[in-house]
Amino acid sequence: MPKNEKSVFHKPVLVKDVIKFLITNKSGIYFDGTIGGGGHSYEILKNLDADGTLIGVDLDSEAVNFAKDHLKSFKNKKIIEKGNYSNISEILKRKKIKNVDGILLDLGISSFQIDNKKRGFSYNTDSLLDMRMNKSLEKNAADIINTYSKDELTQIFKKYGEERYSKKIADFIVRERKIIKTSTDLRNIIERIIPERYKIKTFARIWQALRIEVNKELENLNKFLKNFSDNLKSKGRIVIISYHSLEDRIVKKEFREYEKECICPPNIPICVCCKEKMLKILNKKPVLPSNDEIKLNPRARSAKLRSAEKI
Ligand SMILES: C[S@@+](CC[C@H](N)C(=O)[O-])C[C@H]1O[C@@H](n2cnc3c(N)ncnc32)[C@H](O)[C@@H]1O
Repeated sequence: MPKNEKSVFHKPVLVKDVIKFLITNKSGIYFDGTIGGGGHSYEILKNLDADGTLIGVDLDSEAVNFAKDHLKSFKNKKIIEKGNYSNISEILKRKKIKNVDGILLDLGISSFQIDNKKRGFSYNTDSLLDMRMNKSLEKNAADIINTYSKDELTQIFKKYGEERYSKKIADFIVRERKIIKTSTDLRNIIERIIPERYKIKTFARIWQALRIEVNKELENLNKFLKNFSDNLKSKGRIVIISYHSLEDRIVKKEFREYEKECICPPNIPICVCCKEKMLKILNKKPVLPSNDEIKLNPRARSAKLRSAEKI
């Protein structure tokens, strides 16, 4: 059997809950939109019968290659390829698949990406400021730091990092703008202006903001949420795990919109909006990892799982 337990690529989070909410038909078709090292997909396949199908995509070619190898011993039909989950409709259409029984998104980045010194995802290692999940993207994080205006950088740090020193940091970056290439170059600039006690949190927020901007993470999530339900069978399930409040807020809001029946103002006697309820939310409160899971895998600590069923 593949090396799930031993896998150093990424330890999947909330595995039991993912399986519980996602799988309703053991012979069904499941779409893993963020396959990473294939940790969740491995568990999905383990829980499917031999005629069940898995489709898995990731923006990162290294993840796709790892997942293919990790899942190779399963004889089920598998389609694993490089792709953006926000293009789910096009991906399924190309494969002549009308709709699926379940969709999983496990957002953010994998341990493999964070720990890889060449990728620039961690502020703890000295590496080129890259942060592209998809290496064919034109702009990396260093390009953004070195070419965006002060206002643009401020907006990104504020919106995607919720960083209180956004303006000050952007101002300093632009004033001092020499060519910033590495994580150490950026850390040095931030360290010069941020009080020691806020330093680590600020690094985390600035890195998050840049990562989101480089990979257009919120645009992808919003695009996906606008059309995923067309790709789900009736009674099919959607499960999304997010790791920060920006993503979780978007998921929660969209699920609630889909759950609403009528959005006419209360003073209108007859419904004119004709909106139908599309989803039933399965867990009103997000599922969080247990203390035991966090002890074993500290990177799971901020995970929040939301799930819903298509009406
Ligand atoms: C937290 S990891 C997923 C780990 C995976 N569930 C596992 O068990 O190994 C998130 C993955 O999503 C990928 N990703 C992020 N945004 C994506 C997008 N829009 N489309 C496809 N993959 C994406 C990242 O490259 C990364 O490999």
